[in-house]
Amino acid sequence: MYIFAIESSCDETSVSVLRADGNKIEILSNIVSSQISIHALYGGVVPEIASRAHCEAITNVARDAIDKSGISLSELSAVAVTFAPGLIGSLLVGVSFAKALALSLNIPLIPVDHIEAHVAAAYIENEALTPPYLALVVSGGHTSLYKVTDYSEFEEIGASRDDACGEAFDKVGRVMGLPYPGGAAMDKLASEAFEKYDFGKKGALTFPSPAVADNSLDFSFSGLKTAVINHIHNEKQNQKTDVLNDDTRCEIAGAFTKTVCDGISKKLSLALEENKTEYLVMAGGVAANSHLRKAVASVCERRGVKFIVPPISLCGDNAAMTGAAGYYLYKRGLFADSSLNAFASDEAAEEYISNLKEIKAK
Ligand code: KG4
Ligand code: ZN
Repeated sequence: MYIFAIESSCDETSVSVLRADGNKIEILSNIVSSQISIHALYGGVVPEIASRAHCEAITNVARDAIDKSGISLSELSAVAVTFAPGLIGSLLVGVSFAKALALSLNIPLIPVDHIEAHVAAAYIENEALTPPYLALVVSGGHTSLYKVTDYSEFEEIGASRDDACGEAFDKVGRVMGLPYPGGAAMDKLASEAFEKYDFGKKGALTFPSPAVADNSLDFSFSGLKTAVINHIHNEKQNQKTDVLNDDTRCEIAGAFTKTVCDGISKKLSLALEENKTEYLVMAGGVAANSHLRKAVASVCERRGVKFIVPPISLCGDNAAMTGAAGYYLYKRGLFADSSLNAFASDEAAEEYISNLKEIKAK
């Protein structure tokens, strides 16, 4: 079957066409139109501008995705769309487009949760992965650990109690004067730092861990973020400058990245100790971080668990992951009707999907 999928929850307008059969999911096209250059002017996503940019982009992105797939509209079996969580105006653009297309083609409309979609990126071109497994989602809006008990069945076992991991990367990057969004630039700077500095040695620069100091599987990134930002301000005062010198920026990026990787590795080790699993999936925009990929791979290796992480192109927001999650909802007959709305919060998304599951079970 062929699935047409749309993602527009934040600042990427993306449309994908997938071919799915049994446990095999292939990408025929996955067009991502990023608004980063627009929002970079403001140092962060401006919701109103984001919704307008989605409106302007979506028709062309959809047309490109169809053209590139080589599939005609009449061959599509379903339309999957991210309906929550995210920026409400942005989500509504994708949801409205999806509803109109599903209605005009008379095919099912599948409502997809954005977080579950990030994890579903791991199923693409990876037939071996089947639930149950553990999943870590690290993105600009979320840092959560889940037991994935079945396709589209998530049980949260840990989460950030405040800021998301990606948010910390972006805020620290912004204060350091790195281009928006800070994550990718920080990744490169940290690589340089690990060549130059030994952050394991006594007296090396350290920051407070994002692993909450209790037996939970929770994180807290706001203390780390504030500590790094305070350190940057102190350095600027000491150096009597408004712009940090390259060495200081490099050292801070390295110490911050090491602290994030160590904190996440610590809670993951605990999660793997408490939960027997064959696979650990890491997904979301921050899963593109080269240092975090190495750190988590080594935790998994130590614990004898297979580590699955999508290719970098499928870590950030894209519609192929929405289509992959949508495929498994399609198999269960979990369809929305044309009254489908978009929701900003995780809770509203969960409630909507669990209602659909209940109706289906009756
Ligand atoms: O999943 P995503 O594309 O959007 C959300 O659903 O939030 O994640 C975006 C986040 C941003 O915070 C961005 O800075 C971060 O992912 N990111 C990275 C890297 N690439 C993107 N963070 C660290 N290292 C990277 N290489
Ligand atoms: Zn995302």
